[in-house]
Amino acid sequence: MKIRVVRNDVASIKTPALVVNLFDGVKKPGGATGAVDKALDGAISQLIKDGEIKGKKGETTLIHTFGKIPAARVIVLGLGKRESFTSNTVREVAASSSRYLRRLGVAKAATIAHGAGVGGLDPLECGQAIGEGTILGLYRFKTYLTKSEDNESELAELQIVEKTAKNASLIRKGVEKGRILAEAVLLARDMVNEPPNVMTPTRMSEIASDVAEENGLELKVLDKGEMEELGMGALLGVARGSVQPPKLIMLSYKGAPDSNENLGIIGKGITFDTGGISLKPPGGMEDMKGDMAGGASVIASMKAIAQLKPRINVTGIVGATENMPGGNAQRPGDVVRSMSGKTIEIINTDAEGRLVLADALHYARQQGVTRIVDIATLTGAMVVALGHAASGLMGNNQEFADQVIAVGNDSGERIWQLPMYDDYKEEIKSNVADVKNSGGRPAGSISAAQFLSEFVDDTPWAHLDIAGTYLSKSDKGYLVKGGTGVPTRTLVNLAITLADDD
Ligand code: BES
Ligand code: MN
Ligand code: ZN
Repeated sequence: MKIRVVRNDVASIKTPALVVNLFDGVKKPGGATGAVDKALDGAISQLIKDGEIKGKKGETTLIHTFGKIPAARVIVLGLGKRESFTSNTVREVAASSSRYLRRLGVAKAATIAHGAGVGGLDPLECGQAIGEGTILGLYRFKTYLTKSEDNESELAELQIVEKTAKNASLIRKGVEKGRILAEAVLLARDMVNEPPNVMTPTRMSEIASDVAEENGLELKVLDKGEMEELGMGALLGVARGSVQPPKLIMLSYKGAPDSNENLGIIGKGITFDTGGISLKPPGGMEDMKGDMAGGASVIASMKAIAQLKPRINVTGIVGATENMPGGNAQRPGDVVRSMSGKTIEIINTDAEGRLVLADALHYARQQGVTRIVDIATLTGAMVVALGHAASGLMGNNQEFADQVIAVGNDSGERIWQLPMYDDYKEEIKSNVADVKNSGGRPAGSISAAQFLSEFVDDTPWAHLDIAGTYLSKSDKGYLVKGGTGVPTRTLVNLAITLADDD
């Protein structure tokens, strides 16, 4: 997908399809849309009058121009209400209109910069949103489709038409940033969508190695023997049931070599979660191939961070293993010793993510991270609490939590906080070990976070439970069916925000 910014007049650009826009309720289009309306002898205003164009968010109206202007078709794209218009709206409508253009079968199209004129959006932000939305919205996972009807035509090029040199150069900068972010998200989506017989812990470490090599990151992969030497009994307990060797993957980016500050982003990388001996029921179990989505977002965001080069040090760590019920698998009742020295009673082998993270978090602190975000498809209870509309956040430092939430919401990856009252710690007290790995039914997401908090000590820490947001069941805005890549853009934007802070 090529996105180019061209300096031209909308009414004189030659293209198979030109996208203009309209806010909800506007009767007389202005700006670039107004210019096209005029060149079409008021066709757009007439359709508004007839009630065919309303400007509802994502609405598309196709107008054939029959030679009145060089563009063969004009598509009027609804932007929704002006009051609720943000760069996220641009991301959404850029995505849905690009899919619409693809269905029309056009290989090339042009668009105006939605919101950069009348909408009052910063041109750089607008370019970034169009870049992100277009690339994210057109994504399809086609690796294993062999029939040709599954490979319909592609929209190969989008031109953004802008008159002034100053705005064109800002939009161009934004598009480039958006492209880097979106392509990182596509990597995360690919990893989630790959089948679990392919996306093993070893494959994850190979992808991390490619990312490191192509982008100048430092890579370290601990194998089973090295983890044994470090005493990672919690992670290794999970790995016992699988014949796939576990990997602890670490990518390091040094954007501020003189600083001791180091942001740790730690991902759960369960490449398939059967539940282990506490076996899951079969319905929907195939979705558990995505139980490495947190880890995928860590590897993907390290790639974008390496390309965008913020002045900050970032360490990405993924604890990767399968959770299988093999003959050597751990049992409910087992006690394992984590790398931190704390002992854990296994109550339910399906609460495996927190075990893997326990050792990954401790290892991260030993590596010198000064702040931590962990990302995990950790609990089904998260889906019960927030559905698919937001990721859950729990943490030990309100200032940091507020920062992560703000960056997430600005990125269009919603985050909602849950409380961490000490009361919830009662849920994970064990009679035979320091903690147990599963509490009762109440507040399952929070007791899981309380478990993790045992392994971060006083390092500022935010835990993101993405169990409800790692998958999309339908094509909606810039999400398409399958892995969402959440919260890759949040992690990258957090690194940029923290770098700007000092
Ligand atoms: N990977 C699952 C959580 C999950 C469920 C993610 C649905 C995405 C969608 C996790 O390992 C798990 O099985 N958690 C258990 C914990 C329980 C045994 C304490 C759960 O939520 O049931
Ligand atoms: Mn599980
Ligand atoms: Zn899991």
